[in-house]
Amino acid sequence: MEKVGFGIIGAGIWGSVHAKVYAKDPRVKLISICDVDEEKARKLVEKSGAENYCTDFNDLVKRPDIVGISIATPDFTHFQPAMAAIDAGKHLLIEKPMATRVEEAAKILKEAKKAKIKLMVDFHNRWNPCFLKIKESIDKGELGEISLVYLRLSNPSVVPLKWFPWSEKSSVAWFLGAHTVDLARWLLEDEVKKVYCVSRSKVLRGRGVNTPDFFESVIEFKKGCIVVMENAWILPETEPNIVDFKCQVIGSKGSMYADLSHHRALEKYTEEKTEYPDVFGLTEIYGKLMGFAFQSIRHFIDCVMEDKEPISSGKDGLEVTKTICAMEESILSGSPVEIG
Ligand SMILES: NC(=O)c1ccc[n+]([C@@H]2O[C@H](COP(=O)([O-])OP(=O)(O)OC[C@H]3O[C@@H](n4cnc5c(N)ncnc54)[C@H](O)[C@@H]3O)[C@@H](O)[C@H]2O)c1
Repeated sequence: MEKVGFGIIGAGIWGSVHAKVYAKDPRVKLISICDVDEEKARKLVEKSGAENYCTDFNDLVKRPDIVGISIATPDFTHFQPAMAAIDAGKHLLIEKPMATRVEEAAKILKEAKKAKIKLMVDFHNRWNPCFLKIKESIDKGELGEISLVYLRLSNPSVVPLKWFPWSEKSSVAWFLGAHTVDLARWLLEDEVKKVYCVSRSKVLRGRGVNTPDFFESVIEFKKGCIVVMENAWILPETEPNIVDFKCQVIGSKGSMYADLSHHRALEKYTEEKTEYPDVFGLTEIYGKLMGFAFQSIRHFIDCVMEDKEPISSGKDGLEVTKTICAMEESILSGSPVEIG
């Protein structure tokens, strides 16, 4: 079988996850990695066995031997490389959020449709086994009519304070809320009608990074379900897991509860710290990439190779961007915001 060429724009933490999947997939030739930081691009080429690197995404998108591209640059920088890739007719996997402005997300979706390329946004919780089980039960009607969903996805403050130099230009709403908004839409198969959101900016600002501490959102869906969503970036660094992820779905006939972070399936105690290591997302078994965070990227390869439509699409990316923009508007106005 002839291998198909892929490229990655953004060689940071998550671009490296994309590189792992491409490098291990027998259908793929990982051609090129682009990062504005040349050292990062070069190191990821060495690690992944990609053929070459560049520092300008325009050089990567114009290569005729590349058919599919991942964009894993900071949250607010997806638009320009996405438009360049679409103009060049490449299939596209964009990290969540698709864009941080509604106009940008709408334009990406419109131009991708025109160019007839595959457009996927990496909402990888759609591959998470716990959420697949919850969705299966909702779809079978086992829980009855769903009236209330609670979703919490938060990080310790080390993420905004030390991991990213760009936290001030994004927020926990974009970085984690994008996942939980999409999860609610996907589980409920419904769209957001109205959002009320409050936030505070004190702890992180006090520690020199001007980004909100948390977003508390009440989201009303069109068919009537209420989703209460919490995304915080100020958990203590002593948390045993880098995410705090909880979900409760309450219906007229039953409820389901998922704890993705503090389930204690695995506990690790050393002299330095206590950890509950991730066993679902980035799991590798005898060198095979098994976790759901790998599966979503592999799904993009499937879509390109088998001419399938992505499970998480550009339309999903746009709806999530609309909701988070409405959350930001609600914070500023102090009132609920209807999604137009
Ligand atoms: N699916 C997930 O669960 C998941 C997890 C982590 C991050 N992400 C998303 O992936 C994206 C990247 O996050 P990260 O954690 O890898 O961040 P990161 O800061 O580790 O990496 C981003 C990289 O992009 C590079 N970059 C910036 N502008 C660029 C440009 N114009 N062209 C080429 N390279 C450029 C930076 O130099 C950096 O190396 C974000 O949108 C983030 O929300 C998704």
